[in-house]
Amino acid sequence: MHVVITGASAGIGEALAREFHKRGATLSLLARRKQKLEQLAKELGSRSYIYSADLADPKAAAATLAECARAQGPVDVLVNNAGVQIIAAAQDTDPDEGERLLALNVATPLRLIHDVLPSMLERKQGTIVNMASMAGLSPVPNMLYYNASKGGLGNASEALRGELAGTGVNVLTVYPGPVHTAMGDSGIEKYEATSVAEMAPWGTAEELASLVVRGVELREASIIYPRAYAISRWFPNLSRWFSLRFAPPLKSQS
Ligand SMILES: NC(=O)c1ccc[n+]([C@@H]2O[C@H](COP(=O)([O-])OP(=O)(O)OC[C@H]3O[C@@H](n4cnc5c(N)ncnc54)[C@H](OP(=O)(O)O)[C@@H]3O)[C@@H](O)[C@H]2O)c1
Repeated sequence: MHVVITGASAGIGEALAREFHKRGATLSLLARRKQKLEQLAKELGSRSYIYSADLADPKAAAATLAECARAQGPVDVLVNNAGVQIIAAAQDTDPDEGERLLALNVATPLRLIHDVLPSMLERKQGTIVNMASMAGLSPVPNMLYYNASKGGLGNASEALRGELAGTGVNVLTVYPGPVHTAMGDSGIEKYEATSVAEMAPWGTAEELASLVVRGVELREASIIYPRAYAISRWFPNLSRWFSLRFAPPLKSQS
């Protein structure tokens, strides 16, 4: 099984690499930080190949994916995981940085899906995993571009699953809530520590990774993690209201 993971140098992507490797997969690991990828590949020991690329350029990302397929064979699982977050008031967000986020978080995943599909459809097998976010189901104030990106990716991913029904190709959409990684831990630092924020359940990259690998094996449609956030599926309006009403304010800059 050839698994391509974007954003594999840290956090959830790194945990996914370890978990897929345990199941005997051949890995193509993509991110910018070559040294981190090298360290991980060395630790895993075999069946791991690294590709250093800036995936905020969708065409460069597509070229890297093609290189992975040439070297390791057709892609069985594509994990669109690489992502960045911007937490700031809308008027304080640099639009150029925001548009770079949209390219990495949405445009690149959609391009990689486009490019990986012909071979999966021809072979009538394969899985595409898209790492959305709870911000895509219950958007959080002060994340203008991130909310747009994760809502967009989640919607595209769920509809694609419908489109591909009966083809043998599965699509798994993942909605993490807060997870302890560099992104999760640095993100929370930007907000005031309100009592509601302190009660929010957090998860780990390792536990999420094992749920995702199981989800791929069982051909699941979606994962919400930690489990408590599944309430947003059953009571979406309540969940959205709660998120807007109780989101902690940003810490003041001064
Ligand atoms: N942690 C959370 O609380 C949380 C919650 C919901 C959703 N998510 C989503 O889960 C995914 C993984 O997040 P994480 O928490 O694991 O974040 P992380 O620890 O910050 O890791 C992000 C990964 O993306 C890669 N990346 C970032 N910019 C890149 C670029 N321009 N080109 C190539 N790779 C790039 C990073 O590698 P390099 O820096 O080496 O390039 C790194 O491997 C993201 O899509 C995120 O939105 C996370």
